[in-house]
Amino acid sequence: MPAGQESMRLNPALGQTFRTNRADDVLPLSRPMLGTDGRLHTQLSVSKGTVVVINIASSNRRKDVWGDDAEEFNPGRWLNNGLTVPLEKTPGMVYGSILNFLAGNRTCPGWRIAVLELQTFICDIIEGFRILPVPGDVVVREFHGVSIPKVDGRPVRGW
Ligand code: HEM
Repeated sequence: MPAGQESMRLNPALGQTFRTNRADDVLPLSRPMLGTDGRLHTQLSVSKGTVVVINIASSNRRKDVWGDDAEEFNPGRWLNNGLTVPLEKTPGMVYGSILNFLAGNRTCPGWRIAVLELQTFICDIIEGFRILPVPGDVVVREFHGVSIPKVDGRPVRGW
């Protein structure tokens, strides 16, 4: 379902999460970063107790992974099962190189159920309804830990 995957890529329900390391550590960087000291760094020293922000939303829009049109809604990129996205650039991710379910040891254990539910839901909806934009309504994101779509200017019910 390329349109569903592309929607998830651009609109992750959880845009950020956090981790705190329990010991001093060194984080390798996938590409060098220019520090405020003017030097190029290939790794970062992270002292015990540092809060590290994992930016899921930004990761899903990386131009070096997704190409120059990373900010655009382009379901076609998922044809060929998303294999147009080189997996080695996104190690540890479980679902199509997007970080929505995180990665590594604490990947969301419910990701397969979630994907199945979404697919079933979308099939049911498009079978029974025609979905059209409402003229004048603008859908925006609202953040409540997770982000929720709502119609702009309708603060109470959102629809
Ligand atoms: C679209 C739906 C879902 C998304 C985007 C999602 C995403 C995530 C993410 C990003 C995490 C890691 C959070 C963190 O550690 O900071 C997580 C953890 C978790 N998810 Fe999901 N999830 C979804 C659906 C589900 C479902 C359907 C289940 C269960 C059937 C589930 C069960 C869990 C559990 C138990 C954890 C904690 C795992 C751990 O801490 O080791 N999730 N999920």
